[in-house]
Amino acid sequence: MRDVAVVGIGVMRFGELWETPLRDLCVNASLQAVEDAGVDRVDSIVVGSMACGLFTEQEHVAALAADYLGLGPVPATRVEAACASGGAALRAGFAEVASGLSDVVLVLGVEKMTDVSGDATTAGLATAAEQEYETFYGATFPGMSAMIARAYMERYHAAPEHLAAVAVKNHAHGALNPLAQFQNTITVDDVLQSVLVADPLHMLDCSPVSDGAAAVVLCSAETARRARKRPIRITGVGFATDTISLYRRPDLTRMAAVERAAKAAYAMARRAPGDIQVAEVHDGFTIMEICSIEELGFVPRGQGKDAAPSGLTALGGRIPVNPGGGLKARGHPVGATGVAQACEIVTQLRGEAGKRQVPGARIGLTQNMGGSAGSASVHIFEA
Ligand code: COA
Repeated sequence: MRDVAVVGIGVMRFGELWETPLRDLCVNASLQAVEDAGVDRVDSIVVGSMACGLFTEQEHVAALAADYLGLGPVPATRVEAACASGGAALRAGFAEVASGLSDVVLVLGVEKMTDVSGDATTAGLATAAEQEYETFYGATFPGMSAMIARAYMERYHAAPEHLAAVAVKNHAHGALNPLAQFQNTITVDDVLQSVLVADPLHMLDCSPVSDGAAAVVLCSAETARRARKRPIRITGVGFATDTISLYRRPDLTRMAAVERAAKAAYAMARRAPGDIQVAEVHDGFTIMEICSIEELGFVPRGQGKDAAPSGLTALGGRIPVNPGGGLKARGHPVGATGVAQACEIVTQLRGEAGKRQVPGARIGLTQNMGGSAGSASVHIFEA
C-alpha cells in the first residue's frame, strides 16, 4: 500500500442553513479543501451522505457534486454507513489512493437535515436502526441511546450529572471554535433542566439537527511533497460492524464495532491508545462519548463516566476529546461529521487550532459511528 496524506481541508460553520442548497454545501466545502491543498487536479470524488434522498429528495449526490464543481467527467461515488458515512467515505478515499487507483481524491461529507420537519428528520435518522423489529415499533435514536444510558448507569452507578459533564465540556470547547454551531458555554444544571427528550437524556445531552458539509483532499506521499501546507499522514484505518439492532446485543453498554475498528487502526498504525494526543469522538448523545472512550482504550471499562467530570478529556487534560466541540456543539449534519472530525484533527496536527490548540499534538484519532454503533470507523493521523 502507498502512504496517504491529507493535504487540504474545507469545513463550514454548521447550522440551520436554509438559504444554502445541498449543491452549494458540496461546492463550498470542496473548493475550500482544494484551495487549501493547492492541487491542480482531482482524480476522483467520494461522497459520504446518510440520507440526502430522505432529507432533500436528492439522490445521486456524488455526480451532483462533480457536476457543480465543474469536475466531470471524474469518477464520483457515494458511500453510506448511516452517521458513519463520512468516516466510510474517508476510508474509501484512502483505499483509492493507497491502492494507486487514484492519486488525488476529494472526500466530501454532506447532509442537509433541516429542509424537512423535525418529525421527518427523526424518522429519517431512525432508518439507521433495524426497520422490522425496532423502528416499526417506534424506536428513535434518542430513545435507543436512552436505553444504552440506562443500562450503563445501572451497571456502573453513573448519574445524569456524569452524562451532562460531557455536554458541558464539549460546549466549552465549541465556544473556542468559530466554526461551531453552538458557541455558548453551559452548566450541568442547564443540561439537567433542559427538556427531557428520552429519560435520562435531556435536550442538551443530544447533538443537534444540522446542515453542513466538510471535505478533505487526500493524495499519495509523493504528490503531498508539493502541497501548500504540512501534509498529515493517515497511518491507521479501521472499520467494523455489529448488530444494528440493540435487542440482539448481549450487553447494551458495549460498542463492539468501535473496539474492533480501533484495534484495526491501532495495529495498522503500530500505535496504542496511550500514543493518541487528541481525539474527535462520536458524541451523538453524551452516553456515546462515554462508551466510545472506553472502547477506544482511553480509559478502563466503567470509568468513561469520570473522564469529563475529572477534566481528563478536556483541553489541558491527559487526552483532550472533541476539542472542536464534538457533534454536540460543532453540529451533526450526519454524513458530514466523519469528514469534519478529520478536518479538526488535521487543524490540530498542523498547529492551526488557535484557542483550542492541543499544544504539540502530533498524533490524533477520529471515531465516527453509524446508528447505535452498528458500524464504526476509526482513523489515526500523524504529523
Ligand atoms: N443542543 C442544543 N440546543 C438545541 C439542540 C441541541 N441538541 N436541539 C435544538 N436546540 C435549540 C435550537 O437551536 C433552538 O434554539 P433557538 O430557539 O434559540 O433557535 C431550540 O433549541 C429549539 O430547537 P428545535 O429545533 O425546535 O428543537 P427540537 O425539540 O425540534 O429538537 C432534539 C431537539 C434534541 C430532539 C433534536 O435536536 C434531535 O433530535 N437531536 C438528535 C439528533 C440525532 O439523533 N442525531 C443522530 C445522533 S447519532
